[in-house]
Amino acid sequence: MTDHSHDWPLVRLGFIGFGIVGTGAYRVLDENLPAIQQKIGARLEVKRICVRSPEKPRPVQVDSALLTTDAHEVTDDPEIDVVCELMGGVEPARSYILRALEKGKHVVTANKELIARQGHGLLSLAAQKRLDFQFEGSVAGGIPIINTLKVALAANRIESLFGIVNGTTNYILTRMGAAGLTFADALAEAQAQGFAEADPTSDVYGYDAAYKIAILASIAFQSTVNIEEVFCEGLQRVDEPDIRYARELGFCIKLLAIARARGDRMDVRVHPALVPLDHPLASVANEFNAVFIKGSAVGELMLFGRGAGSLPTGSAVAGDIMETVRNVVRGSTGRVACTCFTRKEVVPIAEVETGYYARIRVEDRPGVLAEVARLFGANGVSLESVLQKASHADVAEIVWTTHRAPEARFRAAIEAISQSPVVHEVCNWIRVEEEMG
Ligand SMILES: NC(=O)c1ccc[n+]([C@@H]2O[C@H](COP(=O)([O-])OP(=O)(O)OC[C@H]3O[C@@H](n4cnc5c(N)ncnc54)[C@H](OP(=O)(O)O)[C@@H]3O)[C@@H](O)[C@H]2O)c1
Repeated sequence: MTDHSHDWPLVRLGFIGFGIVGTGAYRVLDENLPAIQQKIGARLEVKRICVRSPEKPRPVQVDSALLTTDAHEVTDDPEIDVVCELMGGVEPARSYILRALEKGKHVVTANKELIARQGHGLLSLAAQKRLDFQFEGSVAGGIPIINTLKVALAANRIESLFGIVNGTTNYILTRMGAAGLTFADALAEAQAQGFAEADPTSDVYGYDAAYKIAILASIAFQSTVNIEEVFCEGLQRVDEPDIRYARELGFCIKLLAIARARGDRMDVRVHPALVPLDHPLASVANEFNAVFIKGSAVGELMLFGRGAGSLPTGSAVAGDIMETVRNVVRGSTGRVACTCFTRKEVVPIAEVETGYYARIRVEDRPGVLAEVARLFGANGVSLESVLQKASHADVAEIVWTTHRAPEARFRAAIEAISQSPVVHEVCNWIRVEEEMG
């Protein structure tokens, strides 16, 4: 075989951020460099790495001369072709990326919050300058969902997309279900296993999943999604008995990130939901992620894998770097521009239709079930099943499931039920997603 490696052009990379994802991407490239260079027909060199604390020990060894604390040494270096922003957060990451684009550099990032909030502007600027801007690592870590939507499924009309896109919450829900752990114990276990951050707020409250589904919906429906319009509820209300009762009814509880086409609008939301045990998403356990897509031509499709972590996310970032370098070498950068060329509104949660599960404590005497059923009916919510659970001291715990109804109607029913003299307490209610695909 002839070795052409000396004829290959040298493409230089600069990193801003060299933490979990940055070092992961570096390792992925470094460990497989000869094959990677062969695949892209270019030699790669990491020219500069910007970090906050250069003295910090890192899982990969790099020449300390590469490290800097000044991001402009990356964005403004005329020899650097591709800037990899892997520091996270909106500012100063946004300013650094803008600077890099202004300086004619291609950008690779995994920054979900920034893309969800400012992606359209950044991508438009990159397209205007015929620069590549890739962000595969920003959603579901190692799962190649963005390129799947943008390239492989580009010819489809995407009808719906249901994702388990947060490993922390999926781990917590799995452990609460499988081992009967409380939320607090399951969270502590997730932290000990390295699946949850020290501050898990963004994961537990669903914000992380909301950023991700906003990004996926904007690609799927060709419209920017205003993140403030994405309804977002985390695990705050999920209780251990709900997981147990859901299973008895043939469901598990998952934190779903949902994007559905609704005529000229889109239904984009994040919340816990009962998922039928025979649906493929029900088998996605522990820290794993999956995205279940329905496309007009491809039909149903599910991608499954690790949604976070150094090497899985590093794999996505390294893939983006390779694709960018291929384009650089062949002079074909800026091919896949921002696809948000329509403006669709997000359906308000009050209008969204799902089924519902409700756990209600009532007086344990004749006529009470009929009264609660009447209140559901009076608000236009029809019942699917009723299950009487524990009963003591004249109080019965009843679990109801309903057929699909607009959320405003269900909330009105629950409000009326909570006011009824025969009702002790509406303990909890959770949405049910039975029609996924
Ligand atoms: N972790 C994951 O599994 C995962 C998965 C998907 C996407 N992401 C996204 O990837 C990005 C990076 O996440 P990460 O987990 O790798 O974060 P991380 O481990 O905290 O790393 C952040 C890096 O940025 C550097 N940094 C932070 N602020 C800086 C500043 N003002 N100036 C210069 N450098 C600065 C840090 O420097 P020091 O090292 O010196 O502190 C560190 O190297 C985020 O957008 C995140 O949402 C992460």
